[in-house]
Formats: sequence, structure tokens, C-alpha cells
Amino acid sequence: MKILVTGGLGFIGSHTVVELQNEGYEVIVVDNLSNTSLSVLDGIQNITGKVPAFEKLDLREKEKVQDFFKRHHDISGVIHFAASKAVGESVENPLLYYENNINALVYVLQELQQKPEANFIFSSSCTVYGQAETMPITENASIQTAMSPYGNTKQIGEEIITDTAKVTNINAILLRYFNPIGSHPSAEIGELPIGVPQNLVPFITQTGYGLRKELAVYGDDYPTPDGTAIRDYIHVVDLAKAHVIALQRLLNKRNTAKVETFNLGTGTGSSVLEVIHTFEKVSGKKLPYKIVGRREGDITSAYANTDKANDVLGWKAQSTLEEAMASAWKWEQKIRS
Ligand code: WQD
Repeated sequence: MKILVTGGLGFIGSHTVVELQNEGYEVIVVDNLSNTSLSVLDGIQNITGKVPAFEKLDLREKEKVQDFFKRHHDISGVIHFAASKAVGESVENPLLYYENNINALVYVLQELQQKPEANFIFSSSCTVYGQAETMPITENASIQTAMSPYGNTKQIGEEIITDTAKVTNINAILLRYFNPIGSHPSAEIGELPIGVPQNLVPFITQTGYGLRKELAVYGDDYPTPDGTAIRDYIHVVDLAKAHVIALQRLLNKRNTAKVETFNLGTGTGSSVLEVIHTFEKVSGKKLPYKIVGRREGDITSAYANTDKANDVLGWKAQSTLEEAMASAWKWEQKIRS
């Protein structure tokens, strides 16, 4: 069975390609290489021994998307990662996000709706919940007004898929990620350090390696046990495995609705200071940091209720925060060596 992975050379995409190949799927990757590099293909091959088929493709170019699907009509499923994902950048440049994250999705769905049957996995985010009222967060928590254009594109994307699935042969699963961190244990693939890291963990590992002077902790006046904000940090390999399980659910027609939604987290919240201390434990290094003001748009706390993913999807995160941080540190050292 041939599976299309859009954005498949990205952080979560590349880890998912590895897990798909491990399960024996034939994979074709499209990526516009705007936030990654072709070298990720080598990393994938070093892990699985197989190079996925690859085509450079910008999904914002409708005709090229149509041409791709004409040439690849034997695709059994699509896992759609291709999107811009930096919250701050989306505030500065909203149209870049609406064009890339929405147009690309629409063009792919327009091709899928012509097929007798289509299985579609969508990369969504817990950001759709904003600051949820109750922790841990379940899938039926209310969808809040988006905190950023990035978050809005995920909400709109979910609505587009839901409306389309109602009147086409598309079956979809929306996967709402919490905070993906870490890298493959082989350190052959991981989060490519492009630009100044916006996310906590790559900034920590770069500071630990001495590339950054110190970490700025965005606020310690939150109503949490140690005053710093709480998130659900999930190992990227656990996340990747969930995509394969979700895809198999659709391929085997086990889904009970045209569109199903699952939160993908560990179910455990960790504060910024806890992540710092975990890094210090696994690396043996003291991390220089300073407490500064809160970051605009940040929420106090978000961690997943994982019952539905555990019971219905049959998936549960296996890695601890320590293992995830150790893999992130191993990756940082590998790419700097
Ligand atoms: C985590 C915590 C920061 C950096 C966003 C998106 C989400 C997903 C992951 C794409 C927060 C604090 C961070 C730093 C800090 N995006 N922090 N100093 O904001 O929870 O989620 O990225 O897949 O959809 O919403 O992740 O890693 O930026 O921040 O103190 O230098 O670390 O305030 O509390 P976030 P993050």
C-alpha cells in the first residue's frame, strides 16, 4: 500500500515516515523543503534501510498538486503534515499562514474527493483549545477563539475537513498534538535547528551545548505549583506511532465516524522548570536561565486526557520526559559534532 506523507521531511513527518516503513508501507514524501533539508532522506534510510520516494512539491501550486495526483493514483492514504507552524511568525505574517496552511489543504482534499475512497490523517494541535477550562483536556473541550493565526489555521483546517468528509468519500482522523519533543533514539533524524528556536526544548538543548547564552523563562507568576507554565511534552516517536495506528484504523475501516478526533499527549503536565531540571539530570549540565516576563499569547496549562486515544485508538505514549529529553540532547550533540 502506498501512503503519501506531505511535509514528510519535517520534524514529525520524518519520524512518521520511519514508522510507516517499519510497518511495511510504501511511502512517497512530498515537501517544499522550506523548513527542512534533503539530508533528512539519508537519516531515514540510515534507520530503515529504505529511501522513501520523494518529490519536491509546493502544495500551494494547485496545478502541480493536480499533476502529482494524476501521476500517483494508487495512493491508499494521506498523512498531511505540510504546514507552517511557528506561532510568533504567524502573528507577524498571517497571510503566509493562511495561504500555506489552508490553500495546500484545500488542493489536496480536492484531489482526494475524486477518489472512490480516501483516508486522510490531519496534523492538528492542542492549540485549538486555547486555555481550556478543565485539566486534563478531553476531545470535547470547547474550541476557543484562536490565540494566533497558526492556531486559527488548525481550527479552520479541522472545519474544512469535517465539512468535506460529510459529502465525499473522504474518511479522516484529526490528531491534536500536545508538545512534540525529542528525536529518534538513533539520532539520525530530529528537529532541524533552523533559525532561533521558538520552542522550549530545542532552545534548552542549544543553550546546554553553549550555542545560546541562557534560556529566557517566560514567566514564573502563573497559578501553577512552581509558577511556570505547564505543557504535555510527548516524545516525537510516540507521536509518529500514533499516526500509523490512526491510518490503519481507516485502512481497516474500523472508524465509527467519517471524522474522528484524538488528543495525542502523555496525560502528564510538566512545568518549564521541571523540563529544565530534567534536562540537567539527563545531560549532567547546569542550564543557565533567567526568569523574564510572560510571552504574549501563552496559556497557563495544557495537558491531555488520553483515555480516548488509549481506549479507542489503542495507542498510549510510552516514553518518559527523561527519555524524550535525553533523545533531544543526544540529537543536539550529534548535529554539532
Ligand atoms: C512551551 C513552554 C513557553 C520557549 C507551541 C504551539 C503548538 C506546537 C508547539 C507546533 C511555554 C515556555 C518556551 C522559551 C520558555 N506548535 N518557553 N522559553 O507554545 O506550548 O506550543 O509549540 O507544532 O501548537 O502552540 O510550545 O515550546 O513554544 O513553549 O519559557 O525560550 O515553554 O512560555 O510555557 P507552546 P513552546
